Amino acid sequence: MDNAELTIAVVGLGHVGMPTALGLAELGWRVLGADDDADKVRRIAAGELPFYEPGVEALLGRHLDSSRFRATTDVPAAVEAADVIFVCVGTPQRDDGSADLSQVESVARIIAQRLNGYKLVVEKSTSPVRTAAQIKRTILRHRTGTNHEFDIAVNPEFLREGSAMRDFFNPDRVVLGVESERSRDLLLRIYRPLLQRLAETSGTPLGVDDRVVVTDPATAELMKHAANAFLAMKISFINMVADLCEATGADVTQVARGLGQDPRIGGAFLRAGAGFGGYCLPKDLRAFIQIGAQQGVDVSLLRAVEQINEARVDRLLHKIRQVVWIPRGKTVGILGVAFKPMTDDVREAPSLKIIKRLRSEGAKVRVHDPQAVDNARRVVPEDPDGLVFCASPYDAAAGAHLMVVLTEWKEYLELDLPRLRELMEVPLLIDGRNLFDPAVVRAAGFEYYSIGRP
Ligand SMILES: NC(=O)c1ccc[n+]([C@@H]2O[C@H](COP(=O)([O-])OP(=O)(O)OC[C@H]3O[C@@H](n4cnc5c(N)ncnc54)[C@H](O)[C@@H]3O)[C@@H](O)[C@H]2O)c1
Repeated sequence: MDNAELTIAVVGLGHVGMPTALGLAELGWRVLGADDDADKVRRIAAGELPFYEPGVEALLGRHLDSSRFRATTDVPAAVEAADVIFVCVGTPQRDDGSADLSQVESVARIIAQRLNGYKLVVEKSTSPVRTAAQIKRTILRHRTGTNHEFDIAVNPEFLREGSAMRDFFNPDRVVLGVESERSRDLLLRIYRPLLQRLAETSGTPLGVDDRVVVTDPATAELMKHAANAFLAMKISFINMVADLCEATGADVTQVARGLGQDPRIGGAFLRAGAGFGGYCLPKDLRAFIQIGAQQGVDVSLLRAVEQINEARVDRLLHKIRQVVWIPRGKTVGILGVAFKPMTDDVREAPSLKIIKRLRSEGAKVRVHDPQAVDNARRVVPEDPDGLVFCASPYDAAAGAHLMVVLTEWKEYLELDLPRLRELMEVPLLIDGRNLFDPAVVRAAGFEYYSIGRP
């Protein structure tokens, strides 16, 4: 089979599914994208990306034109047409913190009913260890007609929102959790053009297969959860250090710099702030805790990571109260609601909790974000008396007694700070992400507070 003969279905066209589908199309594969959200598919088929992610819409246009990508709501038909099915549906959390795998199960049942020849089912959604085994059991139990062969593989996704396409084309590692040579070879074949290109252009001595980690499905699943739990741990660690810096007059940015230069530690994810959010770290950490607890493993380390993160919101609110004293009747301008820059995703964003708490304490809140306002508005609806979404940071500053930075968008660094200050009632700024240089903000006439810095 050459590239044109292999059809790949990507089921679930979200933040992972779309970059995956279009990345695979760019590598030369014929890709069918399937999602049961009709509105989403309609927009994608019209060339419009339903969420903000740099670089994806351009590839969407290109591969709708090249006919290497097509979007459909007909998941069963896509499954039937495909040789390889990448499952990229959501794995949200249940009330007890464990992963809700109902979307994965429903796709597994569709696959069972549409087996019409050998198919490779690739679990890309972040799932608890042994989910691949459950998918296999479900397909075996529900498959109809002739007993066609199939394989299950786990190919966890490590891309980051905001740089999803770049991450797809420059993976640190490609993890393949497989249980047959056939599935390993098929996945290697799919990724070969990417690995080849990387080996030729990356400027590192890594060969074509050096980034590939081949293991069994359960290990691949556990690896993904462990990776996210470790990243969460780094953030909570530096946040705890930030609190210590604040209490002692030390500077957490300097501490983090010194720590990060140690190659055994590494500098990434050592930025103190208002805590982590998004669709990965909080829910994957909780799911990992649940898995460990079920297995009788001591997960107190992970529970501490979660507790420190949850306490960030309280700590920031405490800082706000220290600065403005009584929030009631005050106007607070918020800069940034997205859980991080370069995305419009507000899932589990600490900003939303802070906005709700400020409102419940009687403050008026004026919110700006370059991309995430529409998504935020659905969670914390506008209220002309107390919660306003603003078209510009300056608008958010109008009459404010305090500005709070909650997402470190680069464009906030280009703000005309004296102009911002002029618009405010009182020139107070709390930088919940340590975005600004304290000297610059103070020189612009602000009383400035940040996280873990003198
Ligand atoms: N967002 C990230 O940065 C990221 C990174 C790595 C891994 N992951 C993991 O990847 C998975 C997907 O995350 P996401 O952020 O893309 O989620 P998402 O909510 O953006 O997308 C999931 C998509 O699946 C669709 N869907 C749900 N049930 C379906 C069904 N039965 N049939 C067809 N489509 C269905 C939804 O309509 C939605 O479009 C999750 O397991 C997540 O933990 C996410």
